[in-house]
Amino acid sequence: MNSLTKVHVPLAAASYDITIGATVHEHLGRLYPPRAGQRGCVIAPQNVMDLYAGRLLDSLSAGGWEVELLPVADGEAAKNLQTAEQLCRRLAQMAFDRGSVLFALGGGVVGDLVGFVAAIYLRGIAFVQLPTTLLAQVDASVGGKVAVDLPEGKNLIGAFHQPDDVFIDTVPLNTLPDRQLRSGMAEVIKHAVIADAELFSYIEANLDRIYGREPATLEHLLARNCQIKVDIIVQDPYDTGLRSLLNLGHTVGHAVEAAAADWAIHHGEAVAIGMLAEARLAVQLGICQQHDLDRLQNLLGKAGLQSGIPEVDIDQATAALRRDKKIADQTLRLPLMTAIGSAEVFEDIRLNQLDTALRDALQNHK
Ligand code: GLY
Repeated sequence: MNSLTKVHVPLAAASYDITIGATVHEHLGRLYPPRAGQRGCVIAPQNVMDLYAGRLLDSLSAGGWEVELLPVADGEAAKNLQTAEQLCRRLAQMAFDRGSVLFALGGGVVGDLVGFVAAIYLRGIAFVQLPTTLLAQVDASVGGKVAVDLPEGKNLIGAFHQPDDVFIDTVPLNTLPDRQLRSGMAEVIKHAVIADAELFSYIEANLDRIYGREPATLEHLLARNCQIKVDIIVQDPYDTGLRSLLNLGHTVGHAVEAAAADWAIHHGEAVAIGMLAEARLAVQLGICQQHDLDRLQNLLGKAGLQSGIPEVDIDQATAALRRDKKIADQTLRLPLMTAIGSAEVFEDIRLNQLDTALRDALQNHK
């Protein structure tokens, strides 16, 4: 097979590896062999199964796995307690025991859902992340945050449950719709902004290669991104402090996402708007220089994250911002960019300042 890059996640008893490369899913049976008698279950949306499950199952069977296949609905609609219950019941009916493994094949939704089922079934079994979208590969599949949604909001029921391993195959990115690739790039740019000025320059110089899905470029980009996330989460696996740096752009982003009718705006698109709004606020507060904001704006523009994005109702977005759980006494804790490649968490950011930044950002998108 082609080259492989590994990123280790050192979390004591919960340590694991992220293996990155073209065609790793086709070689999974050999890369992740079963223990004696161990059973596996691949869970994926039907459209993902149709595209990728065939070769994955062949490889798992050749590697000695006894493996079942369970389809789930496509999209955010699957990420709820009802689906989680149905999956737990199917696993119980098939007599899956505590030594079994679940394989989550697909985007962030299926990774979160399957991870949640793995966290609760029999008080916790192993699961493996097989992310097929850029967003899931650089963010959701790493770090053990698993959850389902409630009608009252996204990710309101969840757990910290680290995967047993993560295998990132660059091949599915070849057929990933451009809009989804761009959405994933928002999280990639976020990681560069938080921690790696060199990566930011690399993206500026190599955007054509990235969007051209050049395998070696993607492998490098994915490995560097996973390493940045890993370096942060190993210092704060339960999200009590430093890990909130990874929420850069997300406070405004979540409000924008929630305000768009029928979730018409993609997560990464909302995060891009959020990053810019929050970076503008950082400049106003004297925390960040205008030229860093300009560089961020330019790159988001070149990456296709500044135009053609569905319109969002400004009043609904500011109302959603006011419902944010993190707000106390009209102030909140917010990670802000201090320069390209560096961010810090600031206490006591005033809600009305953020509100203005959000309004400005959405007005600029009209
Ligand atoms: N997606 C942010 C985190 O894993 O903490």
